[in-house]
Amino acid sequence: MINILICGIGGKMGGEIAGILKNDDKTDIVCGVDLKTSDNVNVPVYASFDEVKEKTDVIIDFSSPSVLKDELNWVVKQRCPVVLATTGYTYDDLQLIERAAKKTAVFKTANFSMGINLIAKLARMAAEILGNDFDIEIIEKHHNNKKDAPSGTAIMLADAVNAAYDGGKEYLYGRKGITGKRGKEIGFHSVRGGTITGEHEILFAGDDEIITISHAAASRKVFATGAIKAAKWLVGKPAGLYNMNDLLRDI
Ligand SMILES: NC(=O)c1ccc[n+]([C@@H]2O[C@H](COP(=O)([O-])OP(=O)(O)OC[C@H]3O[C@@H](n4cnc5c(N)ncnc54)[C@H](O)[C@@H]3O)[C@@H](O)[C@H]2O)c1
Repeated sequence: MINILICGIGGKMGGEIAGILKNDDKTDIVCGVDLKTSDNVNVPVYASFDEVKEKTDVIIDFSSPSVLKDELNWVVKQRCPVVLATTGYTYDDLQLIERAAKKTAVFKTANFSMGINLIAKLARMAAEILGNDFDIEIIEKHHNNKKDAPSGTAIMLADAVNAAYDGGKEYLYGRKGITGKRGKEIGFHSVRGGTITGEHEILFAGDDEIITISHAAASRKVFATGAIKAAKWLVGKPAGLYNMNDLLRDI
């Protein structure tokens, strides 16, 4: 039995994970960490990691960057693997994550869907072929409660494209007041409204032709299933920073 702690158990994704794990006889949710309680599952929910007493084999985190420091201190002390699915981490946060990954197994991805990870590869391939003849813009759409903009997935897709240019593209967030000839940028545009789960489009615009590579998530289930798969896979792994490529290579 794998003992799982859900950080962010009271949120939309925490609820989705709890719902799926209820019917999984290989895992147990032992507790949650959240600032609010959960209606989805009857386990203790703590406001901070200091209070956690339960033996935990792996953490699944869909919460907020604000909990990261406490969480990493805890996982390093306990040598507990952690799946970080939260987005919106700062540069300093990413440094902390890398440091913690020297002591315990850390899995981090901004998007758990197979489809998004596939279009990241397709977009990189497209950029390698199209070179500098096409302008690149990323348009992402999410529900009206999303905490970060642009989405972590949009940045992940831009990084995949930018790898084709050896990191030579600059990122431009919105285009208000920026007119005239484009530079060597990737433009980001964020749309927020209603209950949109998550839509991403990478647009390559050239002379007289446009190529778009797009993905739409129809529900949160796709992210939850991926995160659970990653958590099971991560248990017993040595310290290190893992991502979807490692998981997909192995399963
Ligand atoms: N990697 C992926 O595939 C993927 C998919 C969907 C969402 N996400 C990300 O997951 C995160 C959560 O998404 P959501 O839609 O469930 O959001 P949500 O707002 O519904 O839930 C977040 C939960 O975290 C809790 N929380 C906030 N600050 C906290 C703190 N300091 N300590 C403990 N708990 C805290 C909130 O109380 C809330 O219950 C976001 O960053 C989102 O972008 C990632």
